[in-house]
Amino acid sequence: MKKVILFFSLALNLLSACKRDDVVDEDNTYTLSPPSYFPSVLYPLENNPISKEGFELGKKLFNDPRLSIDNSVACSNCHVKAVAFTDPQHNPSVGVFEQSGTRNAPMIANMAFQSEFLLDGGVSHLDFIPVFAIENKKEMGETISNVVVKLNRTADYPALFKAAFAEIDTITSPYMLKAISQYMLLLISDNAKYDQMLRGEIAFSEEELQGQTIFNEKCATCHAGALFTNHQFINNGLDTTFADIGRALITETNDDLGKFKVPSLRNSMLTAPYMHDGRFKTIREVLDHYRFHVKNSPTLANELHKSGQLGISLTDEEVDNIILFLETLTDYEFIANPKF
Ligand code: HEC
Ligand code: HEC
Repeated sequence: MKKVILFFSLALNLLSACKRDDVVDEDNTYTLSPPSYFPSVLYPLENNPISKEGFELGKKLFNDPRLSIDNSVACSNCHVKAVAFTDPQHNPSVGVFEQSGTRNAPMIANMAFQSEFLLDGGVSHLDFIPVFAIENKKEMGETISNVVVKLNRTADYPALFKAAFAEIDTITSPYMLKAISQYMLLLISDNAKYDQMLRGEIAFSEEELQGQTIFNEKCATCHAGALFTNHQFINNGLDTTFADIGRALITETNDDLGKFKVPSLRNSMLTAPYMHDGRFKTIREVLDHYRFHVKNSPTLANELHKSGQLGISLTDEEVDNIILFLETLTDYEFIANPKF
């Protein structure tokens, strides 16, 4: 039976003719093989090797509203595939009983290369994220133990867990968390026009090249490297006083007031609204912020108040070209991939 599934999935891979990362090994585990210019994998895969069954189970759980208290809200309500697993509709994201949190749902892609999650870095292991989401009163409002009870009572889940994790006879929370992580870990976005350019398959236009040059000069200290983030917590000048103190919630020091995780800009043309609270609706509003509205405070990043000047100076043409460059970071294969 395993062999048939393996053959079927290989055949599917060939049919879709992708250069994807989803190589299924002889032992039916997936190997992540991101491009060489990606950072290294930080998730401890040795404790949770990804199998086809585990990935499929994680996908089912991610899309299942039974993970919430009133069976109404799935992870995928707020993390929508068509917009790189962010939330296009709500600002901020809406959970059970139509309640809103204060933060905007971030993209779920390339999670394997991160070790600090949430906008303030408050969770340090991907497996704990569903605990946060399920037990958050304004997201799914459920308890992990009750979800496990519910899953054990279903007709389909016990066999699916057994297929994914041969060592268990009843569903337990660590295995549920492992399965959801297996799904999220394979959500790798690495086939944007930018990647095709790096692989030498296409060339950038003059404007895109100009946009890239300005981006590298003015944005890439923070939005650095292949994922367009330096993985740090930074105050980019949105406010002078902070309704959400960000990183300081975790570290409890004034030095971190108003600092948030630098987001990846991959797929950013799809991930509006922008910033931790979703305050900007368009990418032009974001660029206007950096040009004209950066606000001073003791924790503001140095790059944003160089030689007494607040903000980043850009001409209108430079803004247009930066936007053309950001468009090259959209991975249409990622959001259309039926596997996800
Ligand atoms: C009601 C909307 C909502 C639901 C439902 C929801 N999330 Fe989220 N998710 C968010 C928001 C908002 C954040 C940012 C929270 C923060 O930073 O404090 C987030 C953050 C995350 C992150 C961190 C990403 C990063 O870059 O740090 C991951 C991963 C994630 N969610 C996965 C899940 C999973 C898995 C589920 C289901 C078990 C889920 N989410 C359910 C809204 C939601
Ligand atoms: C000093 C560091 C820094 C610099 C320089 C910087 N950014 Fe940012 N950027 C951030 C931080 C931090 C955030 C997240 C803030 C938040 O969540 O409230 C962010 C958020 C964004 C977002 C929103 C992404 C999302 O998904 O919400 C975009 C788009 C963006 N920056 C583009 C740019 C561009 C374009 C430039 C250059 C003109 C630039 N940034 C320069 C630190 C920086």
